[in-house]
Amino acid sequence: MASPPVPGPPAPVVDVSAPIVAGAADRAEADAVVGAAAELGVKELSRHPVGHGRWLLQLAAPGRDQIGEAVAALRGAGFAVLAGPPTAGHTTVWARRNGPSWFAPGACVCFPWSPVDREAARLTVEIDPGAGFGAGGHPTTLGLLAGLVDPATAGAARSGPDPGLADADPGLADLTGRRVLDVGCGTGVLAIAAALRGADPVDALDIAPAALAATRANAARNGVADRVRLVDADLARCTGPYHLVLANIHADVLTAMAADLRRLVVRPGAPIEPVGPPRYRAAPDATAGPATARAAEPGARGDPPRPPRGEAPGPAAEPPPRPAVGPDPREPGGLLGVSGLSVAQVSRLEAALAPLRTVHRHHLDDWVTLWLRW
Ligand SMILES: C[S@@+](CC[C@H](N)C(=O)[O-])C[C@H]1O[C@@H](n2cnc3c(N)ncnc32)[C@H](O)[C@@H]1O
Repeated sequence: MASPPVPGPPAPVVDVSAPIVAGAADRAEADAVVGAAAELGVKELSRHPVGHGRWLLQLAAPGRDQIGEAVAALRGAGFAVLAGPPTAGHTTVWARRNGPSWFAPGACVCFPWSPVDREAARLTVEIDPGAGFGAGGHPTTLGLLAGLVDPATAGAARSGPDPGLADADPGLADLTGRRVLDVGCGTGVLAIAAALRGADPVDALDIAPAALAATRANAARNGVADRVRLVDADLARCTGPYHLVLANIHADVLTAMAADLRRLVVRPGAPIEPVGPPRYRAAPDATAGPATARAAEPGARGDPPRPPRGEAPGPAAEPPPRPAVGPDPREPGGLLGVSGLSVAQVSRLEAALAPLRTVHRHHLDDWVTLWLRW
């Protein structure tokens, strides 16, 4: 009599209700993410070439409870993964919906899985949106990006006979070596776009540690980690000044920070200052520790040393003032770009920012972007 079959090891269970999506830059990265996922018990369900060498993968965690942990581990290993979408069948539809956002001719914000010809495009900012804070496609972000990257046509297409921002601000035409501050950097999309246009240094400030981490990762993804510096500081302690200050934040927050935004914009005829480590005022409360900035890639720049959190700053916390080279009569003064406001909120913010005056305003959907200068 034949003996009953010996049960083998249980078949691996894949819970398709525990989906994870991954983007890969090429086939090798697709294999690598699948390999790393397998070590976590995460299975590959499908993979699609989506064009221009990019891949989109649908994975499944062993159960819903493991999604967060698996996503965190894979993200920690440097892969662009997110929880969702709901089923493998929805993945391509989802990817199409989460496609690139074009904000100027040949210029877009895209995701790691976006089938965009990055070589042929004039400018692409690739954002891994995993940490949230806006992935670059919101009208308030696009409004600033349009002016930053294409001042000649910013707003012209949507606002009728608009001369574009370049006429109002020729300074934006060439950002090479200009100092830029991105207030509320989120995923770093504005800071990265400025750095890709040649700005150096670009200081990226946010109150959320996760935003600074996302900016660091995205700056590296776009090859500008040596120019984008993370500022772990309150805006009030930033000393600047900057040729260009960008802020896409809720209008009430912008109004509350108006005095600091104005103070940080270079004044016309300001002395030329050599680019050096960013300077900050000492913390009013020593227990708060010093405000610091650091390059997105550790060690890429000589930023001030950073004591561990909670430790009182030593006397070296305040870097010595940089020597000014002398007034530059050609310095036209810096520019402030603000976004995140409705039409009804414009006049209140303009009053708070005066005597900076609006030189260009453009509307995208229900949102307004303002560009102001001295
Ligand atoms: C609307 S998001 C903009 C993100 C990104 N700059 C963009 O344009 O997509 C606003 C960001 O401002 C940050 N934020 C809010 N209040 C802030 C403050 N007082 N100082 C610095 N950052 C702030 C938030 O953490 C968030 O990352």
